[in-house]
Amino acid sequence: MEVVVVLALVVLLSINGGESRKAPVDECFEYPAMSCRAHSASLTEFGGVGDGNTLNTKAFQAAIDHLSQYASDGGSQLFVPPGKWLTGSFNLTSNFTLYLHQDAVLLASQMRSQIRYLATNIDMDESEWTVIEPLPSYGRGRDAAGGRFISLIFATNLTDVVITGNNGTIDGQGALWWDKFHAGKLKYTRPYLIEIMYSENVEISHLTLVNSPSWNVHPVYSSAIVILLIGQVYDEARSSTSGLTILAPVTSPNTDGINPDSCTNTRIQDCYIVSGDDCVAVKSGWDEYGIAYGMPTKQLVIRRLTCISPFSAVIALGSEMSGGIQDVRAEDILAINTESGVRIKTAVGRGGFVKDIYVKGMTMKTMKWAFWMTGDYGSHADNNYDPNALPVIQNINYRDMVAENVTMAARLEGISGDPFTGICISNVTIELAKKAKKVPWNCTDVSGISSAVVPQPCALLPDQGPEKVIACNFPEESLPVDNMQVQMCTYKGKV
Ligand SMILES: *[C@@H]1O[C@H](CO)[C@@H](O)[C@H](O)[C@H]1NC(C)=O
Ligand SMILES: *[C@@H]1O[C@H](CO)[C@@H](O)[C@H](O)[C@H]1NC(C)=O
Ligand SMILES: *[C@@H]1O[C@H](CO)[C@@H](O)[C@H](O)[C@H]1NC(C)=O
Ligand SMILES: *[C@@H]1O[C@H](CO)[C@@H](O)[C@H](O)[C@H]1NC(C)=O
Ligand SMILES: *[C@@H]1O[C@H](CO)[C@@H](O)[C@H](O)[C@H]1NC(C)=O
Ligand SMILES: *[C@@H]1O[C@H](CO)[C@@H](O)[C@H](O)[C@H]1NC(C)=O
Ligand SMILES: *[C@@H]1O[C@H](CO)[C@@H](O)[C@H](O)[C@H]1NC(C)=O
Repeated sequence: MEVVVVLALVVLLSINGGESRKAPVDECFEYPAMSCRAHSASLTEFGGVGDGNTLNTKAFQAAIDHLSQYASDGGSQLFVPPGKWLTGSFNLTSNFTLYLHQDAVLLASQMRSQIRYLATNIDMDESEWTVIEPLPSYGRGRDAAGGRFISLIFATNLTDVVITGNNGTIDGQGALWWDKFHAGKLKYTRPYLIEIMYSENVEISHLTLVNSPSWNVHPVYSSAIVILLIGQVYDEARSSTSGLTILAPVTSPNTDGINPDSCTNTRIQDCYIVSGDDCVAVKSGWDEYGIAYGMPTKQLVIRRLTCISPFSAVIALGSEMSGGIQDVRAEDILAINTESGVRIKTAVGRGGFVKDIYVKGMTMKTMKWAFWMTGDYGSHADNNYDPNALPVIQNINYRDMVAENVTMAARLEGISGDPFTGICISNVTIELAKKAKKVPWNCTDVSGISSAVVPQPCALLPDQGPEKVIACNFPEESLPVDNMQVQMCTYKGKV
């Protein structure tokens, strides 16, 4: 099947060459996705110009508005041809696929908006970036109190959306946003590249995301029946290294890779992430706002992830976890030059819980801490948090891991009077760096057990001894999100 896809694209390229913008022709190619569509259109049919200078916001919105009429008639797909497509934010629709050709680059228009904003200090409402309400589970924007700039690609209250391509690129052109953030001059919270709100059945795959102004992919408030697939959904035999490639300078602020937030049934698979913040950050709302909203993230699968993040974690749980995080299963993870492997971040006032966490098969090379738990992360939405709202952290399982060149094996800091319990660490070998800390484990306010762990863990995680070697839990049965079927879809229309 891969051959078919490649051939079709080669034919498509050789027929159209550089002329595709001027004279769209009918073409046909195949690609894998969880849903196929009956109707097709190309951005060029709606006045799109891929010259890197022309603003295509209206072309995108006109195309999607037009295609939304087919939502109940087999759905539709929008093809983005080779070219550089400067655009502001646009909204998706239901039963819809956005497909980016491998030589298509979506360029976020915030450069232009930022310059205008800096020069005139007008509200960004008048620019390409609408300001929307803060998330109810956060109570405020993360960069500034109040609203937030809408994401480049935004979806709300939808069902069945695919954002895919043949490794096309979405470029957030984040540098000016990062400068503005560092200068403390943001009036509203920075936009994300892709945000999916109140939606179900979403696939995001086979794309490269670069230089996001802030988080890259933010699925939030998906209900229990939601299936949210992120990353590669090819069948195992065809699996290649990377479903979603996410690249940002390692010093760029808050450029988290993928942030499942109050979502149920999410799969993140075959992703390669280099970023300035956590590669995957699992969240569920902030302090009293998150507690009141009360929507956890649960049934999350993270599989075959490669992460490079020198100043953050491979997988962070929190720090905004006030709606709760439960049943996270991570396996086959590679971390290179990353600050920590799995990190739990929480604080007094968060409430909520982080429980039933299972991680196995992690290789770590050059790390500051293999394991890190932080009970005093602080960082409150405002001063109205409830000091009696203590988070519950329990049943945390880590097994089958090797790490090399590690500064400190583990720093596990629970909360005084609210210990983190049920920690299990087994079959883990950590090779310390030449300049390692003298005491490899430091544990406070935690309890649990360990088995076959080198170097010897702290006394709060007593070793079960050679005659009683145990393997920490990892669920055997799969989750519904693992049973998603991928089919070959056909695009037949203008390109
Ligand atoms: C999307 O397609 C499904 C299946 O054909 C249909 O049941 C649903 O109503 C459609 N959604 C919308 C918003 O039209
Ligand atoms: C996109 O959706 C948001 C939220 O519903 C809305 O505020 C915005 O106006 C929409 N944009 C367009 C171009 O329709
Ligand atoms: C989207 O769904 C949420 C949650 O169900 C609901 O509160 C909101 O009103 C819906 N928004 C729209 C525009 O339908
Ligand atoms: C997609 O493109 C990126 C950036 O050029 C590259 O690093 C990555 O390997 C590509 N992924 C696939 C699956 O070809
Ligand atoms: C221990 O972990 C390694 C991976 O680091 C794995 O290959 C091995 O099978 C595990 N041993 C047991 C007994 O599970
Ligand atoms: C080990 O880690 C240090 C940083 O802590 C780094 O400078 C060094 O290059 C690493 N060594 C290897 C062999 O990766
Ligand atoms: C261990 O952690 C505690 C609590 O964070 C800290 O006060 C103490 O200095 C640490 N001990 C060592 C040896 O690093």
